Amino acid sequence: MTAFIRFADLCAQGRAKGQRVFIRADLNVPQDEQGRITEDTRIRASVPAIRLALDAGAAVMVTSHLGRPTEGQFKPEDSLQPVAVRLAELLGQPVRLISDWVDGDFSVSPGEVVLLENCRLNVGEKKNSPELAKKLGALCDIFVHDAFGTAHRAEGTTYGIAETAPVACAGPLLAAEMDAIAQALAQPKRPLVAIVAGSKVSTKLTILQSLASKVDQLIVGGGIANTFMLAAGLKIGKSLAEPDLLGEAKAVIEAMKARGADVPIPKDVVVAKRFAADAEATVKKATDVAEDDLILDIGPETAAKLAAQLKQAGTIVWNGPVGVFEFAAFEGGTKAIAQAIADSPGFSIAGGGDTLAAIAKYGIEKDVGYISTGGGAFLEVLEGKTLPAFEVLARRAQA
Ligand code: 3PG
Ligand code: MG
Repeated sequence: MTAFIRFADLCAQGRAKGQRVFIRADLNVPQDEQGRITEDTRIRASVPAIRLALDAGAAVMVTSHLGRPTEGQFKPEDSLQPVAVRLAELLGQPVRLISDWVDGDFSVSPGEVVLLENCRLNVGEKKNSPELAKKLGALCDIFVHDAFGTAHRAEGTTYGIAETAPVACAGPLLAAEMDAIAQALAQPKRPLVAIVAGSKVSTKLTILQSLASKVDQLIVGGGIANTFMLAAGLKIGKSLAEPDLLGEAKAVIEAMKARGADVPIPKDVVVAKRFAADAEATVKKATDVAEDDLILDIGPETAAKLAAQLKQAGTIVWNGPVGVFEFAAFEGGTKAIAQAIADSPGFSIAGGGDTLAAIAKYGIEKDVGYISTGGGAFLEVLEGKTLPAFEVLARRAQA
């Protein structure tokens, strides 16, 4: 793997003492309508870098994006305020939240942590404008990239600042995620089974294509499975699917077949007439789906068959629930898959926001081999792509 400077090494060498350290974390956590944090894995995972900086005697600035706000237009729901509260609890010390921080009109002393308000509110963040990057770099002595979940984005605080800061290095979470995923997949124990589910084939097409050449079984779920059912000649009624991508789905099935591998197509499904928690759920054979049916989960026969395969797997990669698990009537498939992963002696690795929520819902955290904080970033690493974060940090390590 490409070499980068590790923040832990700088700290061990005493190079962070008294320095202004700017940490880009991924604190983009799910919230309910009242703004309460519903799942705080990413905040907890970001604590070690902050601790490291504090213990090394640095003045610590932390920032993150939250959602996808409009730049230059502050709305209360885009604020990192709830995150500041949770972070202060976890650190056991106050965390001041600073707004309008780009020009550096704030102070921070060694031993102190400030949270810089949602970085995607800054004009130029998304497109990584050179003017913004210059200002960001001037705020610190050391830039620490610890936002694995955002490592596939080249934005102001994930890329631009890494070019302009005096020193740019990898935080412990960023480094550990990369090491863990790369290691798990370098020589995976076979059979290697991947579960790729979610609403759209289009957003996961490249991962499906890349996995088709690597895995022994590719289990598809959600809207992706519907598109694959269409490709297999089945009717899917009104279900979410992308008919434009039938050709691609067929190509994935063919590529797998040619290697003696398999994309299991559901034998039965759970359907409803409308998308709602209280909609009546009916189990049907995959060949019996009616014109006005919506497929909202895999059926029990399919779930049992997949569960049996997962229990035989040497390695399991999981991204995405196979049904609408937020609704009790349509959670059976995802629950069965989650339980099978937990029970499987194979090494499992999971990532993605909905996947983390399912893992938490079924309480299988301890039974999953490795849980990544990344969604899109996790998938891009699985595809074998070099993420922008690693490209720029490697370049800075050589300078
Ligand atoms: C995520 O939730 O996947 C990361 O925080 C990245 O967010 P983004 O997709 O809005 O860049
Ligand atoms: Mg996302």
